[in-house]
Amino acid sequence: MKILVTGGAGFIGGNFLHYMVQNYPQDQMVNLDLLTYAGNLETVKSLEDKPNYRFVHGDIADRDFIMKLFEKEKFDIVVNFAAESHVDRSVINPEIFIQTNVLGTQVLLDASKTYGIKRYHQVSTDEVYGDLPLNRTDLFFTEETPIHTSSPYSASKAGADLLVLAYYRTFKLPVTISRCSNNYGPYQFPEKLIPLIIIRALENQRLPIYGKGENVRDWLYVTDHCRAIDLIIRKGKEGEVYNIGGHNEKTNLEVVKMVLKILEKPESLIRYVTDRPGHDLRYAIDPTKMERELGWKPEYTFDTGMDKTIKWYLSNKEWWQRVMNGEYRNYIKNMYDKRLIER
Ligand code: NAD
Ligand code: TYD
Repeated sequence: MKILVTGGAGFIGGNFLHYMVQNYPQDQMVNLDLLTYAGNLETVKSLEDKPNYRFVHGDIADRDFIMKLFEKEKFDIVVNFAAESHVDRSVINPEIFIQTNVLGTQVLLDASKTYGIKRYHQVSTDEVYGDLPLNRTDLFFTEETPIHTSSPYSASKAGADLLVLAYYRTFKLPVTISRCSNNYGPYQFPEKLIPLIIIRALENQRLPIYGKGENVRDWLYVTDHCRAIDLIIRKGKEGEVYNIGGHNEKTNLEVVKMVLKILEKPESLIRYVTDRPGHDLRYAIDPTKMERELGWKPEYTFDTGMDKTIKWYLSNKEWWQRVMNGEYRNYIKNMYDKRLIER
């Protein structure tokens, strides 16, 4: 089988490629990535000499390029990870989120329809469901929870999901969608909470916590997400949505304190800063469908996953020091200089 993985130079797509190239030597993986600020070929460097792996540089929203690629390559499966993925950036510049996440998805769907594929899989997010109240710990997102988005990021991901389901209903394109909770693990770009905190703590820099640090996220180790997607593309039912999560809800403050404890750094590094506009309160996934229909269960606990993640950042300083270039420094300055209020 020939599998197109878009966004494979990013965090989750990169981890997925490591998993797939190793576990399916008989399948061909093609990694298509635009190499935006979040894409990094160092993430997939060790795959370069593998016979079942290839990199192609390009934009999922470039219709001519994508059509030619599909015509030439005749993919069996498409797994679309490529996206603008950071909520804070979507607050500053929503446009690129619509361009890549919505229009890019439409181009991939059109190419899949024109050239025929066995499965189109859309990697989506639990953020399309909006948020849950902090005081209703009995509530969880199921696949039936209505779409109700908060940020330009989640709105763009929801738009893409609706297009994917429309192509199933209208054109009978064989699609599946997965909606996963927050991921953490190796190769995550240090704009997201966990790598940002690990790296800043290692460098004894202040750790910005939005609002009161009470917002809750449901954390999943990235390899557990990759295993789930692999199961869905092989055994999942066409036209279906699958929620992925490991019942691992933590407040942001709990996460930051855990990192500090493991790194033996003082809690005095914590700084409470201006909240994110529209900040979702709580995400919590009900993964019953994945468990019941596909026999999936997470293999990592938060302790084992965080231990692996922190060890990875400690022994891969070159990887993260290289991505913290001029663009990154400007981003951090603009993003956090504006959040001046400290409590
Ligand atoms: P990331 O930002 O680390 O990586 C995104 C990758 O997509 C980068 O390599 C980038 O270069 C590439 N890309 C961006 N625009 C492109 C374009 N127009 N054409 C081709 N490539 C392009 O993101 P991530 O955290 O790995 O997330 C991957 C997917 O998983 C996204 O679709 C995201 O919405 C979804 N998701 C992420 C999380 C999470 O916690 N990170 C949770 C659930 C779902
Ligand atoms: P993030 O990693 O950006 O993921 P998402 O917004 O998609 O859930 O943020 C995780 C949580 O951490 C979210 O509630 C926002 C919060 N946060 C901070 O408190 N400080 C930070 O510097 C960042 C980046 C996030």
